[in-house]
Amino acid sequence: MNACNYEPVDNRKGERRVSRRRFLQFTLGFSFLATLAGVLTPIIGYLWPPSRGAGATGGRALVGNTKDIPPGEAKVVSVGGVPVLLLNHGGDIKAFDGICTHFSCVVEWDAEGQYILCPCHDARFNAVTGAVISGPAPAPLPSFAISLEGEDIYVEV
Ligand code: FES
Repeated sequence: MNACNYEPVDNRKGERRVSRRRFLQFTLGFSFLATLAGVLTPIIGYLWPPSRGAGATGGRALVGNTKDIPPGEAKVVSVGGVPVLLLNHGGDIKAFDGICTHFSCVVEWDAEGQYILCPCHDARFNAVTGAVISGPAPAPLPSFAISLEGEDIYVEV
């Protein structure tokens, strides 16, 4: 008698039994597919980041005072719930969308390097144009128009 041809004997009529081999094949197949999905999901998300909506638009908001942002410094303010990075580049105030174009982390100012940094995956953006300097960000940071009234800074979003 060949041991490989062993089939379990079912003494109960009308019941369907699953052999140990079929059960292990199903379990291993399911484990393989679950592992594959777990590995591929973050890779696909990294290569094709989610698009995001336009955010808050159509308004003018008072966001600060020029005294709050000395030359070479920046700060993130909230405009309608959307983070906006205000930075003073040599006396010229700029406003950029504070959300990274890669995976929507809030960007920050690197005063030492004088660039905008996304701390999540190390994307770096130009402080004057918002263009991508390095890193995985697929697009530059959108900028917002600003206007000054005395020392008050207004952002048009
Ligand atoms: S979220 Fe990935 S670099 Fe900003």
